[in-house]
Amino acid sequence: MSARKHLKLGNMITGAGHTWSEWRHPQAQPGASTNFKFYSKRAQILERGKFDFAFIADSVSINEKSSPHYLNRFEPLTILSALAAVTEHLGLVATVTATYTEPFNLARQLASLDHISGGRAGWNVVTSWLEGSAANFGRQEHLAHDVRYRLAAEYLDVVQGLWDSWEDDAFVYDKETGVFFNPEKLNTLGHKGEFLSVKGPLNIARSAQGQPVIFQAGSSDDGRSFAAKHADAIFVGGEDLAEARAYYADVKSRAAGFGRDPDNLFILPSASPIVGGTEAQAHALWEERANLASIESALSMLGRGFNDHDFSAYDLDAPFPDVFGHGINSSQSATVKILAAVKAENLTLRQVARRFAAPKGAFVGTPEQIAGQFEHWFTSRASDGFVLIESLPGQIEAFVDHVIPVLQQRGLFKTEYAGATFRENLGLEVPPNRFTVRKAAASVAA
Ligand SMILES: Cc1cc2nc3c(=O)[nH]c(=O)nc-3n(C[C@H](O)[C@H](O)[C@H](O)COP(=O)(O)O)c2cc1C
Repeated sequence: MSARKHLKLGNMITGAGHTWSEWRHPQAQPGASTNFKFYSKRAQILERGKFDFAFIADSVSINEKSSPHYLNRFEPLTILSALAAVTEHLGLVATVTATYTEPFNLARQLASLDHISGGRAGWNVVTSWLEGSAANFGRQEHLAHDVRYRLAAEYLDVVQGLWDSWEDDAFVYDKETGVFFNPEKLNTLGHKGEFLSVKGPLNIARSAQGQPVIFQAGSSDDGRSFAAKHADAIFVGGEDLAEARAYYADVKSRAAGFGRDPDNLFILPSASPIVGGTEAQAHALWEERANLASIESALSMLGRGFNDHDFSAYDLDAPFPDVFGHGINSSQSATVKILAAVKAENLTLRQVARRFAAPKGAFVGTPEQIAGQFEHWFTSRASDGFVLIESLPGQIEAFVDHVIPVLQQRGLFKTEYAGATFRENLGLEVPPNRFTVRKAAASVAA
C-alpha cells in the first residue's frame, strides 16, 4: 500500500505564538511556551485527532527582536521526552541544529527519546540561519550557507552511522554462559571527514523503528537537494498553491534523481486554518486574526529572514531597501523570492511586509470548505499533508473536532493509528542497518 494513501498531519506547537501578534488575543496564554500543562493538553488533543506528529521548532539565538515563542521556551528534546510519557501514538519531532551541536551527543539524545517513546522520535535537521548563533558557541563567525549544508550532510551521515552501532540481534543476555552481547554485532564507525572525526560506537542500541524519522525545512537549491537526498519529510512554508505545486514537483523529481521512491518523501506545507460553524463566522474569526497583525509585527517577521535585520527605521512607502546581503547567507530561499518580486514589481517595504510576512488566510471556512481545500492540495500534488500552526486560540481543537471527521469520511485521513512506531504510522520502512547490509554483501562476495 502506498505510504501516500492518507494525508499526513502534524502540529508545530507554538505556545505564545509564532509571530508577534497572537499572544495579544484575549484567550491567548502569553506564558504557554514554558507551560508543560499547555503542551501535554495539546498533545492529547492531537492524539484524539489521530495526528501523525507534534513538531517543536527551535533556534539557538535570540535578541529583543525575536518573537514571543522564541524568546522564552523549552529545549525541544527535553519537552518531547516529557510528552513521550503522556502520549502513546504521536510522533515527536525535535528541531536541532547540525551547526552548533556535537553528533555523538545528539545521536544519543535522539536515540534515547526514540526508546523512551517506543519508536516515535523525529529530527528536523536545521543549519541555523541566524548569524547571531555563532557568539553563543564561542565561534568567531557563522558558517556560509553552502558550507552549513555540506556540514549538515556529513553530520547526518555520522549520526545515522552511530545509530547503527549495535546490530539488531547484538544483545544475548545469556545468564548461564555470562554472555551479555555478541561483540561481532557491535560496530565502530571510525568516521573522518571534511568537518567531523567521530570514532564510535554509540552507547545505545537501535530503537523499535530502527532510526528516528528525518525532517528538513530548507527551500534553497542546497536545501532542496539535501531534503530530496536525505529527508523522510519536509516542512515547507505554505499557503500558496501554485508555489507549493512547483516546489513539490521539483523536490520529488530531485528525489527520483537520487534513486529514491518519491512517495517515501512527504512534502508538508505549513497551514493555519481558521474554521467556523458558518462561512461568515470563519471570516469574522479571520478578521479578528488579521486585526491582531500590525505592520510592526510584520516588519519583525520580515526581519527574521534577514538575520533579524531591523526594518523599523525605513520609510514604509519607499522602495524596499537593498538589504539582500543580510539575507543571502541566512534564509536564502526567502531572500531570493523577495528580491525577485521587488525587482519585478518595484515593491515598497509596506507591500513586501504585507505580502511575505503577514498571515494569508488561505484556509478560512466551514469544516467542509477547509477539508475540500486540503483535499485539493493533496490530490493535485501540492502536498502530502500539512503541518498546522495555530492562528487563533482553540483553532487546533476546532480542527480536530470538526475538520478531521470530514477528512475521515472522505477517506483522506486515517481513523486509527496503523502501528506503534512513527515509521509504521507514516507507512515508512525501517532503515536497514548499514553494517548488517555491508557484512551481508561481503559474505555474498566472499
Ligand atoms: C516551515 C519552516 C519551519 C522552520 N523551522 C525552523 C526551526 O525550527 N529552526 C531553524 O533553525 N530553522 C527553521 N527553519 C528554517 C530552515 O531550516 C532554513 O534555514 C530556512 O528555510 C532557509 O533555508 P534555505 O536557506 O535553504 O532557503 C524553518 C523553515 C521553514 C520553512
